[in-house]
Amino acid sequence: MEEIKILDKTFTPFITSEEINHSIQRMANTLHEEYKGKVPVFIGVLNGVIMFFSDFLKHYKGNCEIGFLQLASYHGGLESAGKIKLVTDITVDITDRDVIILEDIIDTGNTLEYLYNLLEIKPVKSIKIATLFFKPEIYKKELNIDLIGMNIPNKFVIGYGLDYMGLGRNLKDLYQLKEDN
Ligand code: IMP
Ligand code: MG
Repeated sequence: MEEIKILDKTFTPFITSEEINHSIQRMANTLHEEYKGKVPVFIGVLNGVIMFFSDFLKHYKGNCEIGFLQLASYHGGLESAGKIKLVTDITVDITDRDVIILEDIIDTGNTLEYLYNLLEIKPVKSIKIATLFFKPEIYKKELNIDLIGMNIPNKFVIGYGLDYMGLGRNLKDLYQLKEDN
């Protein structure tokens, strides 16, 4: 794997798709054990979740349904904008259902807080939050995260669904912003 350049920034290889895949397999197996005999609804938070969502479903062995919601938080750059906008509300009926929200990455937790507030008013049976990547050093909230795929350092990453200025989502591996650039 080689360095890549996107616009003005250089990114170095960080986590391979194979390692990501192992982590997702563990997550899918854990949730399958927990939801035995149930038919959970997995809700993917667009856009970043696209690759994770599809790979997760391939590993999940039980019956399940899916839906999406779309939020916008970053302005496409390196910093979280802090202000979150609901672009598309949950696309399926989750009344009385066991719901699992799948997130690509939890950073400051602002988005997570927004999600909790949004879900609080929905008549679900149960709710869990699972994220593929988590940055513990920058996470500022007390809110519970039920399942974490991988803890990563507080550095900006792209690939595997995550973007810089809208680009890089199609990279199959995860890349980290190179220092001093
Ligand atoms: P939070 O609200 O600060 O937790 O940020 C959550 C959202 O910001 C994620 O769903 C991503 O869309 C985006 N994000 C956070 N960290 C990164 C990163 O390192 N690279 C790309 N996007 C990120
Ligand atoms: Mg996201």
